[in-house]
Amino acid sequence: MIPFNIPYQNPNLQKDMHAALSDPRIFRNQGFYHQEARNKLAQILNVNNSNLFLTPSCTHALEIITHIIDIEPGDEIILPSYTYVSTANAFFLKGATLVFADVLAYHPSLNIADVEKKITSRTKAIVLVHYGGIGIDVIEFRKLADRYNILFIEDAAHTLGATYKNKPLGTYGDFATISFHETKNLGCVQGGALLVNNPKYIEKANTVTQCGTNRLDFMNKKTVRYNWVSQGTNGILAEPLCAILSSQLTHLEDVTKKRKNLWQTYFHAFRDIVNHQNLFCIDSEESNGHIFYLLFKNADERILFMKFMTDHQIEVTTHYQALHHSPFYLKHHSDISLIETSKFHNTLIRLPLYHALGDCEQSKIIETAIRFFK
Ligand SMILES: Cc1ncc(COP(=O)(O)O)c(C=O)c1O
Repeated sequence: MIPFNIPYQNPNLQKDMHAALSDPRIFRNQGFYHQEARNKLAQILNVNNSNLFLTPSCTHALEIITHIIDIEPGDEIILPSYTYVSTANAFFLKGATLVFADVLAYHPSLNIADVEKKITSRTKAIVLVHYGGIGIDVIEFRKLADRYNILFIEDAAHTLGATYKNKPLGTYGDFATISFHETKNLGCVQGGALLVNNPKYIEKANTVTQCGTNRLDFMNKKTVRYNWVSQGTNGILAEPLCAILSSQLTHLEDVTKKRKNLWQTYFHAFRDIVNHQNLFCIDSEESNGHIFYLLFKNADERILFMKFMTDHQIEVTTHYQALHHSPFYLKHHSDISLIETSKFHNTLIRLPLYHALGDCEQSKIIETAIRFFK
């Protein structure tokens, strides 16, 4: 069976982890490996490392934002329904109202016109998910948020290694969150990062990620004891995972290059076959090759395709179950219509795409899929 994903492990990982686990510093929370990984990531993203927080997951990073900006009942958050539950849960947990906007017809990224229609005096933030590591209208979203004086948050879970107008995705919003989950291009089993690009919030971010205390002042000998000063959580990535992340980050360029090549091979193989149906993903030089998807005419055709591929020992998978169709959302809200979102919910399939995918395996995937289309 060709699996859908094999998490990336760099060739030095075992050696690096052997050294790290023999190092007594691995037992010091927020210590050497934390600093090392943070510095490497800050360099990749071209940000100051004091703006960057390594968190236990992207989910945590999103929740930390809600503590920093004091989300409360009555606040409205505009976000896509075609996303992972964590994007919504973070705000739901604080009693905010989730306002789902529709996505574009040609890509599951928020439709800026629909977002603008949904802004009210209670809108606190827009959350843009860069699906598959592709940024669309990012600067326009930044301007829109500024025009209405609301916060702009990038859920950049997919984006490590991707840019928009030559600037890393994750550096446009007031805040951004990245995922290092095993399903991402490069990860540390489970981990995340929070970027606080708006300097106004850095001090609060330091407090919130230290369980709502001024522990950092204590560690920097600015106070003799530390205290509870705000709401917060334990928002720090554990040291052994920082060591994995640090080792992995050294190989980001190689990972991104390989994935982009695989992505382009798929793109050119399928372009002529499915493009005429207007059911295809868009090409972007600046993406990181995170996801390659195909769309089908309807849910039934998608099921047939999945079965065909499985019968040929190839694992393909759907992606998000749109949140507005979920049992949990419908328990609390009435049904809403998001036409393009439902299209991606019903018809999108992801093909295997990972660093270890060989040329022969990719050729088999392409030939098999083309046989289905023909
Ligand atoms: C768009 C998006 N946001 C957030 C998350 C949560 O990431 P994590 O697993 O690091 O908590 C995911 C996970 O896949 C995601 O796809």
